[in-house]
Amino acid sequence: MTVWSEKTPKHGGDVYHLARTLGVEVKDLLDFSANINPLGFPPEILAAVYEALEEICHYPDRQCLDLKRELAAYHRLTPPEILVGNGSTELIYLIARALRPGKSLIVAPAFSEYEQALKTAQIPMDFYVTKEAHNFTLNEPLKARGADLIFLANPASPSGALLPPERLAPIVAALDAAGVYIVLDEAFIDFVEEASLKTYLGRFPHLLILRSFTKFFGIPGMRLGYLLAAPDLIARLGAVQEPWSVNTMAQAMGRACLAAVDFMAQTRDLVTQERQYLLKHLKALPGLTAFPGAVNYLLVKLTRTGWTAAKLQKDLLAHHIVIRDASNFRGLDERFCRMAVRTREENDRLLQALEQCLKAE
Ligand SMILES: Cc1ncc(COP(=O)(O)O)c(C=O)c1O
Repeated sequence: MTVWSEKTPKHGGDVYHLARTLGVEVKDLLDFSANINPLGFPPEILAAVYEALEEICHYPDRQCLDLKRELAAYHRLTPPEILVGNGSTELIYLIARALRPGKSLIVAPAFSEYEQALKTAQIPMDFYVTKEAHNFTLNEPLKARGADLIFLANPASPSGALLPPERLAPIVAALDAAGVYIVLDEAFIDFVEEASLKTYLGRFPHLLILRSFTKFFGIPGMRLGYLLAAPDLIARLGAVQEPWSVNTMAQAMGRACLAAVDFMAQTRDLVTQERQYLLKHLKALPGLTAFPGAVNYLLVKLTRTGWTAAKLQKDLLAHHIVIRDASNFRGLDERFCRMAVRTREENDRLLQALEQCLKAE
């Protein structure tokens, strides 16, 4: 049986595919390949969804107005600065299609859907590849190289490195002043909300900030994300968005998530503590280097000759543990993998399995 083939999906978290291939149940897999909140989702969203079920005899609110109002209050913005989407992935494709830049630039390594979206919209693209020595994040002002749209993630993915606002804002300011659209992907910023560039929106008319409910609120299956930008940009994008892409239950869940303040605090505490724990113990294992991330995942490089992420991934599957082989990220190679930060018990299971796999060679 071939578990990892050419057809193996290029994202983490494809537990349905894996479980089918391995002949096990999804619940039997311990997934470190997708970076989802280890606490799951806020329990209060269940009641909200149950209530929203009564509304499914109507089309969803196309404008997601109630959710937008609550997002606006949460972020101290206004509803016209917000566009809600079916996951931030829908918005990535929408941006490429609606803004139709002549040329684009992706700061790599990066989430592969930027490239796919630009390809689909037939927009030429270039890559700025960050360096391992700089923890795979920007270490100098970013030149647009003729691009009029740039995709950049902060925290970076897959390294998890965070550029603080005082370092990122001047980079964005220079591009914005040159008329370059900057799509700043803050899919993981909720773990370090104070580092969001959202407070700069009024100053940068070309800045588009992508946000997601997927990771921090633990609801990848619901598909809910949003964009923060100047009202004229939001209107331009909203005009070409497919109708009803955000269903009634997702809108209700989003509102319930924003009210889950205890859950947010617990998540931040747990992830900070467990990331430090996992990093310390990964560093103590022979044959690998772990990069210091700021959120709920860590990038790891295998340093022993002949070891590859694909092999380690396969070996860990024997323990029903799934990690992300990160070799297909542009700028990385076959030695890189990514692991989520989970609960203490789950992190210990990963560490024990890793120790056995690394010893076996
Ligand atoms: C950096 C980054 N941005 C965006 C996304 C898309 O998230 P979603 O479409 O679930 O909001 C992902 C998903 O893995 C991601 O890793």
